[in-house]
Amino acid sequence: MTSFDCKNKFKPLTEGTYLKNAEEYKRLYKQSIEDPNAFWYEKAQEFLTWDKSFTTISSGTLKQGNVKYFEDGYLNVYQNCVLRHKEKKPNDVALIYEADDPEDARTITWLELSEQVQLYARVLKHLGVKKGDVVTIYMSTSPEAVYAMLACSYVGAIHSVIFGGFSSEAIKARVLDSKSRFIVTQNLARRRGKLVPMKATVDRAIGGLDFIRSVLVDERVSNMKDQFEMKSNRDIDLKPFVSEFQKGGKYENENADLQAMSMNAEDPLFLLYTSGSTGKPKALIHTTGGYLLNAALTHKTVFDIREGDRYGCMADLGWITGHTYIVYAPLVNGTTTLLFESTPDYPRITRYWEVIDKWGLTQFYTSPTAVRFVMTYGTEPLKDFSLKSLRVIGSVGEPIGVEAWNWYFKNVGKSKCYLVDTYWMTESGAIMISAIPGVTTLKRGSATLPLFGINPQLLLNGDNPQNQELNLEKKSKKQFLEIAENSQSGILTIKGHWPSITRTILGNHKRYLDTYLNPYPGYFLTGDSAYRDMDGLYFIKGRIDDVLNVSAHRFGTSELESAITLHPNTVEVAVVGMPHKIKGEAIFVFCVLKDKRVDEKKTKNELKVLLQKTISKVATPEHIVLVDSLPKTRSGKIMRRILKKIVTKNYEISTYGDLSTLLNPDSVKQIVQNVKKLF
Ligand code: WT7
Repeated sequence: MTSFDCKNKFKPLTEGTYLKNAEEYKRLYKQSIEDPNAFWYEKAQEFLTWDKSFTTISSGTLKQGNVKYFEDGYLNVYQNCVLRHKEKKPNDVALIYEADDPEDARTITWLELSEQVQLYARVLKHLGVKKGDVVTIYMSTSPEAVYAMLACSYVGAIHSVIFGGFSSEAIKARVLDSKSRFIVTQNLARRRGKLVPMKATVDRAIGGLDFIRSVLVDERVSNMKDQFEMKSNRDIDLKPFVSEFQKGGKYENENADLQAMSMNAEDPLFLLYTSGSTGKPKALIHTTGGYLLNAALTHKTVFDIREGDRYGCMADLGWITGHTYIVYAPLVNGTTTLLFESTPDYPRITRYWEVIDKWGLTQFYTSPTAVRFVMTYGTEPLKDFSLKSLRVIGSVGEPIGVEAWNWYFKNVGKSKCYLVDTYWMTESGAIMISAIPGVTTLKRGSATLPLFGINPQLLLNGDNPQNQELNLEKKSKKQFLEIAENSQSGILTIKGHWPSITRTILGNHKRYLDTYLNPYPGYFLTGDSAYRDMDGLYFIKGRIDDVLNVSAHRFGTSELESAITLHPNTVEVAVVGMPHKIKGEAIFVFCVLKDKRVDEKKTKNELKVLLQKTISKVATPEHIVLVDSLPKTRSGKIMRRILKKIVTKNYEISTYGDLSTLLNPDSVKQIVQNVKKLF
């Protein structure tokens, strides 16, 4: 693997970059670890406008799980994200909306953004939304979704954005868990030209939930009234309702001078559901001060953000990438940010390249899945596009292998742009490990170096099966070792805390502690393993827990398994991930049926539909194999480790380790035979 000399090969970024050079990075990084309070004090002044300054920078510890930043400081999200930029440059573009249909694209200025957010906030206020209320947002990646998100903090509410592709069951579980009484949605959405029934899906989700107070329905697609019902006293047609708050409207004077709420830095800004290795999806809470600060700082550093940039992140608003790097970070930094509502191949496979040239994007941020997908069409679709406005291209969501890295760097970055592989997760709130353009080294396939305040440590743990190959003597759970040397792999943890770390899981602080903080006291467990090369650069290897990463969407195996067992004819299910050329990981289902005298094809199809309906289309399984029994330990734990070997086409049973302790060693042979038949 080669590293690159940044200065010669790349567009000259050394002039005017946020950090001057690698030495400055090193110095500041050292300060951020050794004297974090001094570091964050300065950055908090530089990036945020405070209503009331703080006297404490951070308190609490990871061991106790009570970390706080700027706890007596107050700030106003609207002022930081909108108002101060509106005052400086009202007619500059804040949002670029690249709608599903390219013809529907439009731009929104800072002035328009400020007006819309205020109107939405007055609507929420009128409906009785109060500080601390959870507002569910189920919409496509659109300006209205951003207005709704920002209007929440305007009135002190917490948003819970649910990915627009999720099913009514998934919505219901989240609305129930967060006790969210308010929902903002669309009548229908457009996805690849097709209509998606958003309101009807919400209706199915909340039927019977009598605590729902209001459902606000934005008319994303006109003249579709016959496609869904509006329940009186609950459902509100949002566009005409918003107009009532404008000049000449019925509520013209109601809260006309409503001021945005000044929030305590530790007040929750939003919650976001993500999948874990056990149980149902969990709502991670992010705060106002620490989160916004680290979002803005990492965005500025990693994407080399400058005044006048047009920055485009292709993610969906429903994921943390959308929250941090489409909405909050660019808005705090006053950067024009693009909302991409479509897919890379709609209406043509050239869509990404059209978007870059049409808007003159300076940064382009997408996932390895998307890169691998466009790669399958070769370089022909790129030939009519210059992409010359680009300076930095980014990747997020899963490891970007060398092949995709090379293709992306050469054909999109034209071997001149910095390719930043950004490693982070919903829990971290912001990027943790990434190259910094013009400042630090790039290396193919590596996320490279930690950002400020992030102290990665590779740990060895004798309890982890992953480390058995390292011949570690068996240690008790609490015993672990920091690996000091380079050219080593281990469990990736972060030692100590940083401002945007998630503070808790809604309603389940114990689960938060048990999942992230208790396994290695003093360290945050990422759930990934990593390799640190001889130069000290990090290569993320993948999840060590039972979490699948399908097309950069995260699913817990148990979440998928419990969906499948809803089928009346299933007894037992095991889901494992298999490597997939485009999706990164694909879902492989092993299933034991109660009554085996059924039409197998039909049953498999029912299982497939069940996963799509209960979770989402992204959860469509690649393969379903029906078996008589699953390999289990004597204590009844399904040996997914063996199934994983089988789906990676390792059919050599002798390499599976000692099977004699299994409850049912014979099951393995049958499974191998059934899987072999597939390929
Ligand atoms: C998991 C977190 C952060 C937004 C997208 C996903 C994997 C993420 C990388 C990367 C290798 C990566 C990890 C992580 N991951 N970025 N650059 N290289 N792996 O957020 O749904 O919370 O998933 O995604 O496995 O733990 P998420």
